[in-house]
Amino acid sequence: MKAYEKRARELRENIDAANHRYHVLDDPQISDGDYDALLRELLDLELAHPELASPDSPTQRVGGTPSTGFPPYAHARPMLSLGNAFDESELLAFDARVRKLGAIGGDVAYTCELKIDGLAVSLRYDGGKLTAGGTRGDGSVGEDVTPNLRAIKTIPLALRGDAVAVPRHVDVRGEAYMRKSDFERLNAEREARGEPRFANPRNTAAGGIRQLDPKMTAERKLTFYAYAVGEIDTPEPPRSQHELLAYLRALGFRVNEHARAVPSIHEVVAFVEEWEAKRDTLDYEIDGVVIKVDDLALQAKLGTSGKDPRWAIAFKFRAREARTKLLDIVVSVGRTGTLNPNAVLEPVQIGGTTVSSATLHNLDYIRANDIRVGDVVTVIRAGDVIPRVVGPVLELRKAKLPEYSLPTTCPVCGADVDHPEGEPMARCTNASCPAQLVERVRHFASRGAMDIEGVGDQLAAALVESKLVRDVSDTYHLDLAALLSLPRLAEKSASNVLAAIEGSKKRGLARLLSGLGIRFVGSQNAAILAGDFGSIDALAAATEAELLRSEGIGPEIATSVALFFAQEPNRAMVARLKAAGVDTTAPLREREPAGVLAGKTLVLTGTLPNLTRDEAAELIVAAGGKVSGSVSKKTDYVVAGADAGSKLAKAEQLGIPVIDEAGLRKLTTT
Ligand code: IVH
Repeated sequence: MKAYEKRARELRENIDAANHRYHVLDDPQISDGDYDALLRELLDLELAHPELASPDSPTQRVGGTPSTGFPPYAHARPMLSLGNAFDESELLAFDARVRKLGAIGGDVAYTCELKIDGLAVSLRYDGGKLTAGGTRGDGSVGEDVTPNLRAIKTIPLALRGDAVAVPRHVDVRGEAYMRKSDFERLNAEREARGEPRFANPRNTAAGGIRQLDPKMTAERKLTFYAYAVGEIDTPEPPRSQHELLAYLRALGFRVNEHARAVPSIHEVVAFVEEWEAKRDTLDYEIDGVVIKVDDLALQAKLGTSGKDPRWAIAFKFRAREARTKLLDIVVSVGRTGTLNPNAVLEPVQIGGTTVSSATLHNLDYIRANDIRVGDVVTVIRAGDVIPRVVGPVLELRKAKLPEYSLPTTCPVCGADVDHPEGEPMARCTNASCPAQLVERVRHFASRGAMDIEGVGDQLAAALVESKLVRDVSDTYHLDLAALLSLPRLAEKSASNVLAAIEGSKKRGLARLLSGLGIRFVGSQNAAILAGDFGSIDALAAATEAELLRSEGIGPEIATSVALFFAQEPNRAMVARLKAAGVDTTAPLREREPAGVLAGKTLVLTGTLPNLTRDEAAELIVAAGGKVSGSVSKKTDYVVAGADAGSKLAKAEQLGIPVIDEAGLRKLTTT
């Protein structure tokens, strides 16, 4: 065997093992960066030596060639559907039927499994290798979606044979689904790009499996739980459903850890009640419990009737969707100033609770789904606690209803609302808006800004609640008596806080600006503006055109800065900061010699031992350099800390110098 063949084999084994640890055991042992490096090395080898390529190589999970339409996929054994039970009496009737038909005197043992809300797929393994896979379709013929199933990382491309004998042939069935957290993340990304949200994880998973390009499937980050086999050829197949689940796990599949073997139907009833109450604690949606006769010989004896097995039943949880009238849309203001539209609903029962309000996310969501006040709407109380309006029932819209518009002034404080083109969220522009205040005070006092030790989440909330702080400038007008009036603040800590506040007056304009939390003005832009304008008064007087002259300050930032200083409450706050003796000036950049990093672009990745991201960025900007979010050929240095990921890999790939925190300090001080 040639050296590169040996290396490719080694890489495949290592990558498969890493995949298994990460996706199946939830216990990764190598970093994402190392994993990417292994995968890239293998890809390069396969490109250089095409004869190495093989369909079960881990590189085939992404970048498979896009297919056109789907060929039919015939199931060797039918993929059955399930009859439903909706209450305890129907479960007892099911059990009575099983005992009668099976001629069983005593209790029947069952396996209870969560009914995952995804889509059923069947995977064919020959000689331990994944050779094909398809959707359920009508139960006998589905669609062949093999390349897409290969793109799901938790579907093993090869079976593991260390604990059990690998079957010569097996069809493994299970549910492909999307986690709620991945669904939320995907929607947040779509929203940020101005694309419409997906409706729910189930449809997103089903759509993901039916993508023409496997790369699109991979992007949706679907996952898989195995729960059944179709045809199987192995000398000693499992004899019960719970053994079968253990067997599937040993072969390398993810198997849901909440499945439970129970001795009788009474425990089934308890299991069902338990999970109907706990369903929201899971990171995936379940719509019921699947109950299966545990003994596989008894299953065979019972057989099927029509498309449903006589040995299994689905207990369906109460529906969590309902229709009701949208009476009004009211707007609340979040901690970061976002305007959040909420639906006022005619109260309706959903899955056992009365729902009278629901989220509408943002204006784009309302418009994209054509939701109007006066509509009959569909509301779901899905996975999470906050019910959501899905959309109008258009057939029931009788009158012409006006399109909804957001208010142009903040409903909490009356200041102007800013809604930049292409952004999903509109925001209140008033820094002293009570809704935003706690978060602003905390940010103002944080390490990257004014660095006031002792003023964290709790104290910020207490200061706002007690009305001692109505905007951040009030921080500098606190005295010992005021602090001692707060609950749970001892004299010693109160005087420490006062000393920290006093000390923070000298931080200078750049830190102050970044602490004010002006939208788009983080530490980097704050340093640029401070250096170019020299004082907060000069900055406040600047027009948008003047702001745009600063390097790196684009129209979005300029508008945001100008809007901030145009607000009367913000101007008053600045005056109070100055009156309290806070340094609102900075050395003008022109007076400084050009920094050692002038013209250089650096990228930060991973966690540095002693510097926050903001602090590292500040060092770089102070030395005249620029910080960029992504690595390209134009990057001069990558500063990498612990757990650096793909940016580090990219830098190594492009041959860009990588330095650590010590390297950065050296660079910025020479
Ligand atoms: S067993 C006869 N087990 O529910 C066996 N199905 O309503 C049929 N499902 O099409 C499937 N979790 O998509 C089984 N643990 C589980 C399941 C499960 C979800 C889905 C599956 C099936 C549907 C039947």
